[in-house]
Amino acid sequence: MPLLFRALLFGIVTLLVVFLIIADIAEVEEEIANTGHSRKMNLSRLIPKAHRTVAAKVEPTPLSGSGKDVSHPPPNCNNTAKLPSNNWTFNKTLSKLIRKNILRFLDPERDISILKGTLKPGDVIHYVFDRQSTTNISENLYRLLPTASPMKNQHHRRCAIVGNSGILLNSSCGAEIDSHDFVIRCNLAPVEQYSGDVGWRTNLVTMNPSVVQRAFQDLASEEWRERFLQRLQSLSGSVLWIPAFMAKGGEERVEWAIRLILLHTVNVRTAIPSLRLLHAVRGYWLTNNVHIKRPTTGLLMYTMATRFCEEIHLYGFWPFPLDPQGKPVSYHYYDTLKYEYTSSSSPHTMPLEFRTLSRLHRQGALRLHTGTCNAGKPTQREPQSKQ
Ligand SMILES: *[C@@H]1O[C@H](CO)[C@@H](O)[C@H](O)[C@H]1NC(C)=O
Ligand SMILES: *[C@@H]1O[C@H](CO)[C@@H](O)[C@H](O)[C@H]1NC(C)=O
Ligand SMILES: *[C@@H]1O[C@H](CO)[C@@H](O)[C@H](O)[C@H]1NC(C)=O
Ligand SMILES: *[C@@H]1O[C@H](CO)[C@@H](O)[C@H](O)[C@H]1NC(C)=O
Ligand SMILES: *[C@@H]1O[C@H](CO)[C@@H](O)[C@H](O)[C@H]1NC(C)=O
Ligand SMILES: *[C@@H]1O[C@H](CO)[C@@H](O)[C@H](O)[C@H]1NC(C)=O
Repeated sequence: MPLLFRALLFGIVTLLVVFLIIADIAEVEEEIANTGHSRKMNLSRLIPKAHRTVAAKVEPTPLSGSGKDVSHPPPNCNNTAKLPSNNWTFNKTLSKLIRKNILRFLDPERDISILKGTLKPGDVIHYVFDRQSTTNISENLYRLLPTASPMKNQHHRRCAIVGNSGILLNSSCGAEIDSHDFVIRCNLAPVEQYSGDVGWRTNLVTMNPSVVQRAFQDLASEEWRERFLQRLQSLSGSVLWIPAFMAKGGEERVEWAIRLILLHTVNVRTAIPSLRLLHAVRGYWLTNNVHIKRPTTGLLMYTMATRFCEEIHLYGFWPFPLDPQGKPVSYHYYDTLKYEYTSSSSPHTMPLEFRTLSRLHRQGALRLHTGTCNAGKPTQREPQSKQ
């Protein structure tokens, strides 16, 4: 009887201890979930490496999106409109901390492009989002792979990342954007007709294969091929970043683009992102409690730019149909495409990304520009970056 009693007591005490430990963990997790970014940064320090790799390997939700991660309230424009802009100061310490944490998941200098030495023509590639589908490394693509990272040893004091939101229209931000040491643009967006608002300077520009189809009519006529070629030639020496192996269906378009570049010896430095980049970027944000489905090009660029840039300024990021004054904002500054920002079928989680970037803005890790610029006083600095 006393033995049974003792065994029972031991059992109860053990249970209690286990319960207390679990409660403690839950409390820590909750605390982390509810506090700001600097605390979250500590989270990545607390999480053992093994867990981090698990996070980095999490399969993204497929294009159709089962909406597994969408547990967030709809965006509140009133909050996001309250970005302090006159009063923004750069927090170098925080920015360094973020760079260091991102480097645990990816090295943007390396992951920005597959290099020649790592592959050969004919090698089979599994698409990042369609693992069952494969493609071959063509001779032409191989010829355009860089032998060294196009961002090797590049460090810039002030970088601008230009998103394509219609919020840029009538912003007069062109001169301010061009005054940065390094300017990143997305999806080969046109600049010529909009340079007063978006600038023209481009050091790196992305090109999803679908852009060839959407913005250049699949190069169906001589006229469109000429336009596409002119856009590429206008890049004069910039990095052209082509996520060729993300999803199947784009290989022909990539091949056309590559053939044009080779045929006309277009002066661009092509880069094809590594196959691990997207998962690593997503892993970083998931570990910091930002449950994105698939990072947008803009967020990818920010994540990578932390490696090369001290101060990062974002323009043209605005995933809402209305501006802070309630005026309609087009999805792109250059076309009439409609987009459902909060659709659960979208592969992206833009309002969530925007809230994350707003928080980083308030903490001084980056600066989000959503208003108009003072066009009267362009802050012209050294006109060319050191490349
Ligand atoms: C989190 O990190 C900051 C500095 O990065 C430090 O001041 C703070 O004490 C840390 N908090 C915890 C709970 O470790
Ligand atoms: C948000 O702003 C709109 C108009 O800008 C206003 O009508 C609404 O009451 C605001 N909501 C909150 C929660 O402040
Ligand atoms: C700037 O921000 C600080 C703290 O966030 C605040 O105390 C100060 O009043 C602000 N200054 C201006 C000019 O808004
Ligand atoms: C900058 O960020 C660090 C790390 O999050 C924080 O400890 C520090 O208080 C911040 N500095 C300012 C001036 O906000
Ligand atoms: C792709 O590569 C595989 C393996 O080298 C080869 O069997 C196949 O014929 C190639 N396909 C094309 C279209 O080149
Ligand atoms: C930009 O300004 C022009 C001229 O004032 C105006 O006609 C146009 O509607 C404005 N566009 C936007 C998107 O505000």
